[in-house]
This record gives sequence, C-alpha cells and structure tokens, in this order.
Amino acid sequence: MNNNLSINNLILDGYKVIDYSSSQKNIIKDLQKEIILMTDLFKSKKDKKLSEEDKEILKSLIRSHLRYDERSKELTKELSKMMYACGFFNFYITRPYIMIHLPFDKEELGASHIDAVPYSGECYTIWINLNDRLKYKPLKIYPKSHNFLTKLFARFIKKISFSKIRELLLNSLINNIDIDQNPGSFKIWSSNLLHQGLLNTGDGITVSLVYRLSKNPFLYEPITRISDIKKRIFKQTINKFNFYDQKIIKLFDVIKVIIKESNSDSLVDDQKIMDLFETIKFKKMNLDTKMYLSFALSILPQRIKCRNAQLLDLISIVLYKDNLISLSRINSLSNRKTKDLYINFIKKRSPFNSYQENKILGQTSSQPLNNLSW
Ligand SMILES: [Fe+2]
Repeated sequence: MNNNLSINNLILDGYKVIDYSSSQKNIIKDLQKEIILMTDLFKSKKDKKLSEEDKEILKSLIRSHLRYDERSKELTKELSKMMYACGFFNFYITRPYIMIHLPFDKEELGASHIDAVPYSGECYTIWINLNDRLKYKPLKIYPKSHNFLTKLFARFIKKISFSKIRELLLNSLINNIDIDQNPGSFKIWSSNLLHQGLLNTGDGITVSLVYRLSKNPFLYEPITRISDIKKRIFKQTINKFNFYDQKIIKLFDVIKVIIKESNSDSLVDDQKIMDLFETIKFKKMNLDTKMYLSFALSILPQRIKCRNAQLLDLISIVLYKDNLISLSRINSLSNRKTKDLYINFIKKRSPFNSYQENKILGQTSSQPLNNLSW
C-alpha cells in the first residue's frame, strides 16, 4: 500500500494522513464546486439579512443535503474499497456526518476531546475536508495521546472544571500540533486520540465529512459493513443544492414552525404532538424528505435556543432513525414525565428493536437484535 496504512500502524501512531485515490479526487472536485455556491448563501444581501437562527437552519439543511448526496455515497464506496484493502474488512462504516464552520463561528468551536463512544468497539474517525484550500490550520492533534499513560493523564486534566485552565494544561503538558488541511489527502485517527477542531479564521465556509469506522455497530448512527458497501451501485442523478428550490424552502418553513412550537411549551400530551405532525403534513412526506428533515432537526438542538429543544429530537426520531444522538438526549431528560411521554410516543410508532437503540436506552433484550443499518 503506497499510503502505508494498516490497522497495526494506526494502533501505534494513533493518526495518519492518507493520499486520495484518483476516483476519490474526482468526486471531491465535484463537491468542491458546490461549496463555493453554498458560501454565497450565507453572505447577507441588501434586502434580506439572515438571523443567527436562520443561518443555523440553512446550515442544517446543507448538512442533510450532503449527507444523503449521491456523490457522498460514491465517496463512501471509494473510501470503503481503500479501507478494505488496508485490513479493515470486518469494520462497519457510517454515513458521512457533515461539519460546517462559518468564518469565526465560535458556536462550532469545541474543546479538546476524544471520539470514543461506548459499545462501538475499536473505532476510528475519518476526516475529509471538502474545501479547495484552507487558509488556516483546521485541526489540533495530540500525537500518541491514545496510549494508556497519556490517556490516563489527559483524563485527569479533563476533570478540572474551568475550561480555560483545562485547555491551557492540556496544551502545555501534552505534546500537540496544529495540522494543515492538505487538499490532496484525508486524515484518519484512533477514536481515543485527543484532538480539537480549530476556529475558522478564513473568509469562506469550511465543510468537512466525518465517518466512523467501528468494530461493533456505531452507537449513534446506522452502519453498514465496508465489505457490503464497496459492492453497491448508486444512482447517477446529481441534485445540486439550491436554497431557492421549493423543497428546501418548504423544509426551512417546516423547521421554523417546529421551533416556534418548541418555544410554546404547550406539548403535554400525545394529541398535541399529533396535531403538530398534522400541521407539518407528516403523512404526505416521502422517505427522502423525512430523512432530510430528520437529520436537520437532530443537529439543531445544540445550536439554537428554544425552551423545549427535545421536541426537535422527538420529531427527528419519529421521521427517520438516523442520528440517534436525538434518542440519547430524550433518554437523558431529567423531567421523567416528558421523558416517558416522548419515549412511549416513539415506541408506539416504531418499536426499539435495534442493537444501537437498545444500548442507548439501557435495555437488555433476550431476542437477537438487528443492527440499525443504511
Ligand atoms: Fe472529534
């Protein structure tokens, strides 16, 4: 393998930069053209200035669009072929999880963290940036921090409750480097490696695709075996993202209605939730629309302010089970009455019979469970 990637050397170093294959490069070039068009959408126009909430809704719709895009599926297939050849034949892969960072978007700036998720087994993160060239270093990594001693040390520092002191200690006591985007390659790291996304100090939007490769089904998302996906054939139809498309405008308005309702704090029973489903014409939606809306709703609760953000999570899960972070947030609601109402509402319409859902809900099943797959 010219890229010299194998599970064994990933276990040693915790992190690798891999050159794209020629077919991967072609798909990325195609996706890059759209990123330029998307950047224009966020520029305020004389007649119409986007509010912060509108920007987040627009971001969530672009993220849905790229997650289910046919070219993203092709890219996943090409990636799976490469990973299979590198020895990851027993691993599962998720759909791409899309990250969008607007210039100086502090909302997206997270602390240093690891990506490990319970029940997912040995796990790796693949980070693909879609920009032609970035003018800033988008990632900080802590080389070899996945090793036992450093991990233990980092865990100790992480217990410090003041985030500024915690970050300062991590940065000064554990070896770290800020890394370039390097447009001809992607990154892969162990889920136990400490890392951080850095602030977009450029002037355009930064768009990245994040995949999870895991030995067990990844807890929060549907998965498929990389040995299966590399055989799949995808449609050749390409839908370019157009905000002024009727479908997108409609979904934008639907999300506005749901957010408004989530601020009213009046949803106390099944009937009121059902009325909201009527309002958004749930029964008339086709599967594509449900998927699109479901993913957009699942990523908004962390980004917008509303009184009852878990209503967005509830609708997301009822529409389509794709981002189970929504289910996990509902399950950790401190208000027992709301939690039971929401969990029972989902269960009545779609029983929890997958490995991932049962693990999230802490249920033990005597039946063999299906994996939530895509
Ligand atoms: Fe991460």
